Formats: sequence, structure tokens, C-alpha cells
Amino acid sequence: SAIYLKDYKVPEFLIDKTELTFDLDETQTIVTSRLHLRRNPESNSATAPLVLDGGEDVKLIGVAIDTYELPKEEYSLVNDKLIITATPNEFILTCETLIEPQNNTKLEGLYRSSSMFCTQCEAEGFRHITYYLDRPDVMSVFTTTIIGDESKYPVMLSNGNEIERGKTEEGKTFVTWNDPFPKPAYLFALVAGDLNVINDTFVTMSGREVALQIYTEPHNIDKVDFAMDSLKRSMKWDEEVYGREYDLDIFMIVAVDDFNMGAMENKGLNIFNSSCLLASPKTTTDDAYLRVEAVVAHEYFHNWSGNRVTCRDWFQLSLKEGFTVFRDQSFSADTHSSVVKRVEDVSFLKTAQFAEDAGPMAHPIRPASFIEISNFYTLTIYEKGSEVVRMIHTLLGEEGFRKGSDLYFERHDGQAVTCDDFVAAMEDANDVDLSQFKRWYSQAGTPRVTVTDEYDEASKTYRLHMSQMTPPTPGQPTKLSLHIPVKVGLVSANNEPLSFVYEGNTHDETVLHLKDAEQTFVFENVTEQPVPSLLREFSAPVKLNYDYSTEQLLQLMSGDADGFNRWSASQQLAVNELNQLIVQYQAGQTLSEETQLLKGFATLLSDKTLDPAMVALILALPSQAYMSELAEEIDPHGIKAARKHLRELIAKGLEQEFKVAYETNTTDGPYEATAEQIAKRSLKNAALAYWVAAGSDEAASVAVRQYRNADNMTDQFAALSIIVNFDLPEADELLNAFYEQWKHEALVVIKWLMLSAAREQENGLANVKSLMEHPNFDIKNPNKLRAVIGGLGQNTQAFHNLDGSGYAFLADQIILMNKRNPQIASRLCTPLTRWQRMEPELSGLMKAQLERIAGEDLSKDVYEVVSKSLA
Ligand code: ARG
Ligand code: ZN
Repeated sequence: SAIYLKDYKVPEFLIDKTELTFDLDETQTIVTSRLHLRRNPESNSATAPLVLDGGEDVKLIGVAIDTYELPKEEYSLVNDKLIITATPNEFILTCETLIEPQNNTKLEGLYRSSSMFCTQCEAEGFRHITYYLDRPDVMSVFTTTIIGDESKYPVMLSNGNEIERGKTEEGKTFVTWNDPFPKPAYLFALVAGDLNVINDTFVTMSGREVALQIYTEPHNIDKVDFAMDSLKRSMKWDEEVYGREYDLDIFMIVAVDDFNMGAMENKGLNIFNSSCLLASPKTTTDDAYLRVEAVVAHEYFHNWSGNRVTCRDWFQLSLKEGFTVFRDQSFSADTHSSVVKRVEDVSFLKTAQFAEDAGPMAHPIRPASFIEISNFYTLTIYEKGSEVVRMIHTLLGEEGFRKGSDLYFERHDGQAVTCDDFVAAMEDANDVDLSQFKRWYSQAGTPRVTVTDEYDEASKTYRLHMSQMTPPTPGQPTKLSLHIPVKVGLVSANNEPLSFVYEGNTHDETVLHLKDAEQTFVFENVTEQPVPSLLREFSAPVKLNYDYSTEQLLQLMSGDADGFNRWSASQQLAVNELNQLIVQYQAGQTLSEETQLLKGFATLLSDKTLDPAMVALILALPSQAYMSELAEEIDPHGIKAARKHLRELIAKGLEQEFKVAYETNTTDGPYEATAEQIAKRSLKNAALAYWVAAGSDEAASVAVRQYRNADNMTDQFAALSIIVNFDLPEADELLNAFYEQWKHEALVVIKWLMLSAAREQENGLANVKSLMEHPNFDIKNPNKLRAVIGGLGQNTQAFHNLDGSGYAFLADQIILMNKRNPQIASRLCTPLTRWQRMEPELSGLMKAQLERIAGEDLSKDVYEVVSKSLA
């Protein structure tokens, strides 16, 4: 059953200190907690019972108040809660529990990953360790003692500083850690194992030296230098851009193989999915390098936006996640090319978050209710949440935003607060009113902004008429008008920026404030009929609709001063052409042999002044997923056919140009994950894909040669993907060779699984099934499961099979994982939640599988997604 934001109540008790002892063992781990409890002075009740959260997997051995051991009659266990009705106002509760980390397949709480113990406590994992007030507004100072067999667990870590170490009477080792900063239980962490470490230091802006450590299993310790470097750069950036200094004397990161999500910002002891931490030229692609850098930064930035200032309740999740994503995106933009980064982030948002916002799970960035909070670690909370923070940044400007964030951190340091508190700090520091803007926090759905214009030659006046509309979403049939910042510029016929007078001032570019359902903006002194460049830098997460002609789009694509809108124009042009091709395909007509993109791409490829990474992004056709998001009714086979046709037209039309681009964008010298090298490799490999698509033997042999000669994973894997996707004769041989070469590198095996599962071939589904029987597959490892199921999702032929076998197979996996790992099972449901948008035949097949899943005894996680999808 659902819980509601409006029902929030302060906790009845506070826990000033938490003392934990873990006696680690292969078969049972004993956890002893000593909680220094007192009644919350802010509570209305002086007699409310103490209700502690627990889990079905936690076995209570004993509980005592101060020195009084409670007999069974004096407490009760109901629905995994430990309830004690009569307590003093201030006391120490001692509690002993038994857990079995080795049998924990849900990967929340304390669990085993290969040979180590590790934890994941966000959002509500701590209750699977011991009984506790497992809510983020209960903040406590933690002291943790870990007892273990030193030969198996020479490294035993927890939050804060190591304060004691020694031997127990039985000859085991114990280590005690203390974290002086009060924190909610979701930030607790413990790691124990036979790990290697690299050490470094960082001197903070006030001159304190911080020890930096990254731990991995021994065979991976050679792959953490890039993460360490990223960490130091993140620490410096947060000081320079936000004035935020690290607070403890030590900062540790640990890589684990089995992890449900990307990484976790536990105080002083971040735990990472190894896919987001390890990097080496031979095993890691450029994309993965950039992801490591971004995730290291993200988790580090949480130390202030999340840990020092945390969330009052889980409805406020975007308070820390939206803000921290905005911070990590800004860091990456400052480190590499800001336009390239913006295009990548927006492209992801428009593909995946817009789809979520248009589906049955649509929710505002601050949801009003949920059944299972794990289901709300969503693209909406993270990516749209970041866009909302970015809009505040746009409205206040760099300096105003900094004043606001300074006030926020100063005012709320050490507190658990709300999104309202964040916005209030921004308002108070800048003396502005964001009350209408705040509707972005409570309204779901992607707003539509429709724009028309008119130019009056005689008065040199240009008018933009804008209207906004947010479509209904589940539980929100009607919507209010939002405050939407629309950044605009005007472009002249010969591709120059056109200045204009708006509200009395002359500009090349300005931010319009669209606040009403309909509004007209008047520009004076406009010397000629302009082409409007709208929503520059994607200044708001909306769907913009302006009826651009092909000529206008080609012009913006080559001439707009805003790099982001050059990309946007090229995408729109390609979307228009793909849509025509889809219509022709569906009508059984021959597909058009003409494309306006040739002109635009030819100009692009000959312009030596452009950033190659930008050129590569513009060359990338709108993805299958993005075209699906845009479709009224999704026809995966039609989209696939249209994309293939358009790609071949472009490839044949510009074959020579692609060959030249391939040859001129080779990098020399050893591999480096620098913006410059990454840019060149991305264009080189994009050009190679088109060149091969043109069908020449020369291109095919170049691809095979690149595969064989590559000294880095980016080039090797790009070549292999091309060979497999275009089904070149070497495909089978090289896919096998690749596996043999890399079978001992788990992260490369994951790439191989994904590419193999996505391979479109006659017996595609049978192939996917056999991958799940492969000796190197492991269903307990979320990365491997996601690789195979994710690959299947991209395999149009196998997944959207007209006999429904692809959907049935996915449903089988969801049912299998439902109890084992509910968080993962629930995420596997995503493709099926789109059933209402699919063309009728596929829609019915998807719905039938959802109904089959609904007939099972479901975890809360899967139940919420499936029941909302069928509602
Ligand atoms: N707070 C983590 C982050 O940095 C995500 C952890 C979420 N984990 C989960 N099991 N829901 O984004
Ligand atoms: Zn986060």
C-alpha cells in the first residue's frame, strides 16, 4: 500500500549515538547495536511507542532497555517492526540480531559480493541489518566495530576514522571506526575483504591533508588511477565552483562487482559498482571513462549535497539527486566540451526521461506518494531533477545561483531538509519569488511549448507567440501553467546573429519568461525576417513545437551561434525524414531515395573548424529509442527499417567523405582519455560505420584491420560492433576471438554479452537464451543480467517478435528475479510499461505478459510497476 508525502510526521524518537558491532562469519553474522535514544521534543506525544524498522531477513536474538533484558511480553514483532510500548524518555536500547549476508540475493543491507562483505543501505537497506529508525531525518553519530578473521578479511572498513584495532579473546581481529558527523542510516557502510589499495592525498583549500584510498580486489588494482585522478579533480572543482571543502581526514572508495545501481555516497566510504570505477585503456571504452569520471564526481559531490545537508524524507530524493546530477554535469562540462556534454545529457533526457514522463509511472520530481521507494530512483528524479536545478541557475545567473547555494549549505548544514528549503534559500539569497516556478516540483509530464511568429517589415517588429500545455499524467488530470525559461536568439538569412531590442535593451540572445498559457513576446529593431533559434542550450525540459522548414533547419544546423541548437536542428531534420520513411514503409511503398541531410552532413564534414565530437553527434541518426518516444504509435520494425534506409542513403551519398573523415581522425601516440582524443575517436568510428554501411569491401577490410590492430578498447569494440552489426563475414570468428581474449575481464565480458544479445540474426532469441546458459554468465550479477536483457531490448527482431516470444522471455526473467532481487526485477519491467504506446498487435502481446506477471506473488517493487502499468 502507498505512503503519502502529506502524511509526514516528525519521528517520535531521536538516536543521538549509534554503536554497532558486527561479528562477521561465513554462515551467520551477529550484529549488536546500542542506540542512545530519547523522545523527540518536537513530537506531540509524550507516550508514543518506540517502533523500529526491521526486515524478514533479520532474526532478533535479544533486546534490552539500559541493563534490563526485555522478556517476550514487553515487545512485539509485527510486519517486520519491533514495537516497544513502554519506554523511559531517554535510554540505551541494546539489540542483538542475526543475519545471513551470504544468502542475501537482494543486494541491500549487508551482503557478499565475490569474496567480500559489503553494504547498500540507501534507501531502506539498513533495516535489513538491524532494527532501527530507518528514515533520513533521524541522524546519529555512528561508531562501528567490525570483528573478523584477519586471514580472510585483512581489510575492514566503515565510515569516518579508524580509532582502535586489536584482537578479541578468540583471536579474531577487531577494528573500530567513528564518524563524527551525524548521519542517517542510509549513509552507513561496511566493507570487509582481502582487498588491495592505492593511496594518494589531497590538500584542501584550508590546507588540511586528506588521505585518499581506493580499494579493489587484487586483480583490479591496476585500473583505478583514472578514478583517483577524477576524485582529486572533483575535490578541487567543488572548492572552486561551490566553495565546498571535504570534512573528514580520509576518503575511501571501494569497487564491488555485484551492485544494483551505479554507486553510493556513504559518508567517507563510497561503494561503487566496479563498472563505474575501473578504467584502463585496453579494457575500457571512452564512454566508460567519461562515466567513471562523472560517477566519481557525483558521489563525491554528495558529501555536501546529500550528506552534510540530507533529505527529510524520501519524497525529497531529488533534493540531493537532482542537485548532485546538475553538479556532476557541470563538472564534466567544465572538464571537457560543454556543448558536447549538453547534447549527450539532453539526448538522454529526451529519449528516456520523456518516455517515463509519458508512461504509467510518470511522477513529479517530488512525488506525492509511492509504494516502494526503490522504484523512484528514476530518470525523472535524477535527470529532470537536474534540469529543474539548471533552470534555477538560468533564472538567477551564475553568481545568484552561487549565493543561493552558499545560503542553502550554511542554513541547513547538519539538517535533513526539503525541496522547499532549497528553493527558499535560492529565493532569499536573491530576493526573488519562485512560487510559480515551484510547480515544476509537483507536476509530472513533459510540457509542450508551441511557437508561431510574425515579422512586420515596416516597423521592424518581430513577434513570438508561445503557448504551453502539460498533458495529463496518472493522478494529475489537469495542470497549471509553469514558469518556463526560453532562451532565444535570432539568425539572419546569411547566417549572422541578428541583434534585437527586447524590453528596452539590445541583445543577441535573451531568456524569455513564459508563465501564462499563452503569451506574446515583442522584439523591436529587427532588421530582417529572422529564423528563430529557440530553447537554446535546452533551457527547459519541454517539447518545443515550431514549424521549421527544411531550409531553416539546414541553416540553423550550419549557422546558429548556439552549438546545441545546431545539433537540435540536425536532429529535427532527421526526425522529419525518418517519419516520412516510416509512413512509406507502413504503406508498403518504396522508400524515398532522397535526403536533405546529405547537404548538411557534407558541409559539416568539410568544416575543419568544428569539434570532431560535435560532428560525430550530429552524424548520429536519432536512435530507435528516441524515435519510439516521439511516435504516436510505436512500430519498432518500421523505425528500424527507416533508420537502416536513411543510414544507407547517407553512407552511399557521402562515401568518399566518410573515408576521408576516417583517415584524418586517427589519433597518434598512446591512448589518453582526453577530450581531444575522445573527440577524434568518436568521429573516426562514426565515419567508419557509415563507410562500411556504404557496402565497399575496402571499408569492411579496414574495419577488420582496426579490430585486429587496436591498442585500446574504444577502437577494438567500435570495430567489433560494426563488424557484428553489419554482419560482415568475420562476425562470428571475431566475436568468439573477442570473448577468448577477454574472458577473464568481467567488465569486458559484460560488453561482449550485450553486443551478442543485441545481434540481429535469425535465431536471435535462442541465442539470447544460450547466453544465459554461458559458463561466464551469472544471474546473481546485475551487470551481466542487465547486459543480456538490455541487449535483447535493442534486438528488434528477437524482442518485438510477432509471436510474442521475446516478451514472454522477458516476463520469465522478471518472475524469476521477483523474489531474488526485486529492485532488478522491477527495472526489467520498463519496456513492458510502454505497452499502451505500441502498435496494436505488439501492444496486446505486451499486455498479456504484464497480466501474467500480475498473477504471481509479487514483491512490492514489481507489484507497483505492474499494477500501475495495467491500471
Ligand atoms: N544515492 C545513489 C546515487 O548516487 C544511488 C543509490 C540508490 N540505491 C538504491 N538501491 N536505490 O545516486
Ligand atoms: Zn546520487
